[in-house]
Amino acid sequence: MPEICITPLYPELAEEHRRLQRQMILTDPTLNSTLANELTSRLDGINPARLIAGAHHYIANVDNNITGGVTLRPGVENALISGLFVEEPYRRRGIASALMSHVLEVATQTGQRQATLWVADHNQVAYSWYLRLGFGSTEPPTLRLSSLGQDGFDELLVKPLGETPDA
Ligand SMILES: CC(C)(COP(=O)(O)OP(=O)(O)OC[C@H]1O[C@@H](n2cnc3c(N)ncnc32)[C@H](O)[C@@H]1OP(=O)(O)O)[C@@H](O)C(=O)NCCC(=O)NCCS
Repeated sequence: MPEICITPLYPELAEEHRRLQRQMILTDPTLNSTLANELTSRLDGINPARLIAGAHHYIANVDNNITGGVTLRPGVENALISGLFVEEPYRRRGIASALMSHVLEVATQTGQRQATLWVADHNQVAYSWYLRLGFGSTEPPTLRLSSLGQDGFDELLVKPLGETPDA
């Protein structure tokens, strides 16, 4: 099994971040082609420095290929995780697990008390996995209409840090 190496996204790799985000939009099953094209053209209009400013981005490298990424936005006590994406040919090899475990570790080490993320209600694979990782719904659930204007909801999931998934 090839080694999965997680590293910070250095500014010179900003275009790789854009490439991954583009693919995330273009392979999102809830987006029609008009909306996907509009979103990718907005993404393409952002300059590379601004694209990666204000957050910590991490990428997964497998056999010298950048295969996935994730973004961490630390706050005072709460870290927001977003943009988790793995390229289709590389899925189900533990790459998202490695990315997630890395950002949870960084968040814990930098004193964040909880991690949060939004997940779309249609994304059952990710939803079930997040629950297994120790994320849970807020009570009452924090819902918002899909940020991309599709039918359905995004739900906020929260994981206290410093606890094992089974705790
Ligand atoms: C969700 C996603 C990031 C998973 O990436 P991945 O590298 O394939 O995930 P991993 O191989 O690390 O597997 C993570 C877990 O998800 C499960 N999983 C992944 N794909 C699955 C599938 N198609 N069906 C069932 N379970 C699946 C794995 O079994 C694993 O769970 P386990 O640790 O309990 O065994 C990837 O499918 C993706 O990029 N999807 C599109 C973007 C997206 O939905 N991002 C999440 C936004 S909230």
